[in-house]
Amino acid sequence: MRKKIVAGNWKMNASKAEAVAIIKNFTVLMKKMSHASPFSKVTIIIAPPFIHIDNVAQLVNRKRIKIAAQNCAVVENGAYTGEISASMLKSINTDYVILGHSERRTYFDETNRVLAKKLDIALMHGLIPIYCCGETLDERKAEKQKEIVQKQITEGLFHLSPKEFSKIVIAYEPVWAIGTGVTATSDQAQEMHAFIRSVITTKYGKAVSDSISILYGGSCNSKNAKELFACEDVDGGLVGGASLKADEFFEIIQSFEPSSLR
Ligand code: 13P
Repeated sequence: MRKKIVAGNWKMNASKAEAVAIIKNFTVLMKKMSHASPFSKVTIIIAPPFIHIDNVAQLVNRKRIKIAAQNCAVVENGAYTGEISASMLKSINTDYVILGHSERRTYFDETNRVLAKKLDIALMHGLIPIYCCGETLDERKAEKQKEIVQKQITEGLFHLSPKEFSKIVIAYEPVWAIGTGVTATSDQAQEMHAFIRSVITTKYGKAVSDSISILYGGSCNSKNAKELFACEDVDGGLVGGASLKADEFFEIIQSFEPSSLR
């Protein structure tokens, strides 16, 4: 049984006061969820901006809510002004790190090669990478989505040993669906998730590929999550905008088919 995960990527949003308010509202909702609820089995991850991580981590129940960073440095430590290292993140009890988000690829020129190094550093310091992949609208129009995603997966991840690979989470985020209000249909999401799993099977075998959680991201909200999460190869969501609203995020967590949670 694969882990079901809902991760909220706050991106570059929220002042300190706003971050506290989101967490407080979310905590009130979470307290209403009994331990017997099937949804208590969902792994919940919140990825605030670096500057709020420590505060958010101290405000939430860490048994229920895991913390992710949105990026980490490609180097260990030293004279790299403005960067935040994986070891620094670990020292404030960060659990996960999002790597290869399309916004990082596009605006900060992160290549698969750089990301492969970040993956290594994250794993070395005990952070679980959530590795993002996905095609642009032009690439989809040219029917190149599979080729692009295969390249991102192969170049970014396939240097890992099977043991290392088994630790990671993958997020398929079609760039044309991010922040646009246009969600991939459940058919489109399922097709790409199944494709990603087949690429993993070819390299690492079926047991490994069956164990990897693959999240969908891109305008995921409480209205469409149920249909997306019902897809066989969709193991949850990487949620942007909707994760900034506590009630909306809470509803997304409850969008799994209860029988799929054990
Ligand atoms: P939106 O949910 O705002 O489209 O963002 C998705 C995303 O990029 C999550 O990492």
